[in-house]
Amino acid sequence: MKNVLFIASEAVPFIKTGGLADVVGSLPKYFNKEEYDVRVMLPKFMCIPWEYREKMVYKTHFYIDLAWRTQYVGVFELEWDGVTFYFIDNEFYFGGPKPYSWIHEDIEKFAFFSKAALSAIPVIGFNPDIIHCHDWQTGLIPVYLKERFSQGEFYSGVKSIMTIHNLKFQGIWDLKKVKDITGLPDEYFAPDKLEAYEDANYLKGGIVYADRVTTVSETYAQEIKTPFYGENLDGLMNARSNCLSGIVNGIDYETYNPETDTNLVANYNQITFRKEKWKNKVALQRELGLKEDKSKFMIGIVSRLTDQKGLDLIAYVMDELCSEDVQLVVLGTGEERYENMFRHFDWKYNDRVSANIYYSEAMSHKIYAACDAFLMPSLFEPCGLSQLMALRYGTVPIVRETGGLKDTVEAYNEYESKGTGFSFANYNAHEMLGIVNYAKDVYYNHKREWNKIVDRGMKADFSWKTSAKKYEELYRSLY
Ligand code: ADP
Ligand code: GLC
Repeated sequence: MKNVLFIASEAVPFIKTGGLADVVGSLPKYFNKEEYDVRVMLPKFMCIPWEYREKMVYKTHFYIDLAWRTQYVGVFELEWDGVTFYFIDNEFYFGGPKPYSWIHEDIEKFAFFSKAALSAIPVIGFNPDIIHCHDWQTGLIPVYLKERFSQGEFYSGVKSIMTIHNLKFQGIWDLKKVKDITGLPDEYFAPDKLEAYEDANYLKGGIVYADRVTTVSETYAQEIKTPFYGENLDGLMNARSNCLSGIVNGIDYETYNPETDTNLVANYNQITFRKEKWKNKVALQRELGLKEDKSKFMIGIVSRLTDQKGLDLIAYVMDELCSEDVQLVVLGTGEERYENMFRHFDWKYNDRVSANIYYSEAMSHKIYAACDAFLMPSLFEPCGLSQLMALRYGTVPIVRETGGLKDTVEAYNEYESKGTGFSFANYNAHEMLGIVNYAKDVYYNHKREWNKIVDRGMKADFSWKTSAKKYEELYRSLY
């Protein structure tokens, strides 16, 4: 039996700003329980809903030094869905209304979290063989582990893994300040360690010091070795390519299941979708004030509204995209210019565009179920979970061939009747529009073909089964 501790800044159902939370909250359930005991450690953010916080059980507390402050570290525990979660408590750092704030605050917050997490392990009664870190917020953990904790007997054989969910976010801040906050010795701030372009870089530290580095699709693992996708760390990714691998994400097939999903007005499966799925479309049209028409081609977008997601392509051709035979339903929050762009088109084409600028799990499920197609023309996409959710709900993804989108959506081939979605290669608005129009043509004029695409998509297996096995293999390779 091996013990693995995930350390991350978010996980469903407690706190979520993106796909990271879906992965950290669902993957631990899918390991072989006879071989692996996988637990999760998170910050005890005050913005975690009370219904969860009230159930957390206090275990212990102690104090650590961080910069010139002595800080309280509380440790809480909660078993959820068969998985043990530990929460690190400190209201000074985790008290805000959102998990993340300004980068200079987050830099100190996650230095605290990293040090506190490592310091808490000996007192929780769980000795990990592997510490599995996720994204820049935990980048300092492999560094601290090597620099100080592994000197002690308790940590001496502990290995670390750094999983990159998004290389764009690295936790970069002024070198002198980070030196001061972290208390790491000067030699750690060299260009082959924590320093990058004269600043300190948490994720870089994690990548340099972890025993293995992974990212969330095979294609992204290749892409980040190139300057275009490498976010200034392509040199390092190449240098570490022996230890770097890509393991594609899955989704939680219990949470995302059109057959049992209580958010839907009509449940369906791979056999009944032809008769049932449209009922969700009409219900959503009614709820959002769109023209009720079960045959209208409805495109969905559920996304953070940022450049990563290819929204400038959409903005560029919105008028052509929202033609009379299309309905567009958007759910997302993010950059103001995109929020306002969608609001504008909601006003302009009121009966066929619906902009929902907020965050709602329930609404996201309704959209995955109601739409015919799901648009995700990302500039880059480490994996992407939304297209997997769309596939699961029989909603045909239209994606750009990048990162995980390339690995999970097979392009429709009309000559061989193959494929689970539609895709285009170049980051070009008219290329995207061309492929949307192609999908629309198949939907309206070749309905049987369309239904076969849906059928193949629903049949594809993106549960965690296969990928959890790949993580197990990776863990095994460390021993
Ligand atoms: P990323 O992590 O880059 O945002 P992913 O596709 O990996 O992209 O994951 C996005 C997750 O966030 C999905 O679970 C998606 O349904 C969810 N999501 C994004 N925006 C919203 C929103 N406004 N309301 C509800 N869920 C959302
Ligand atoms: C990041 C990526 C997304 C990925 C998610 C979970 O947020 O942007 O592509 O699916 O992490 O790994």
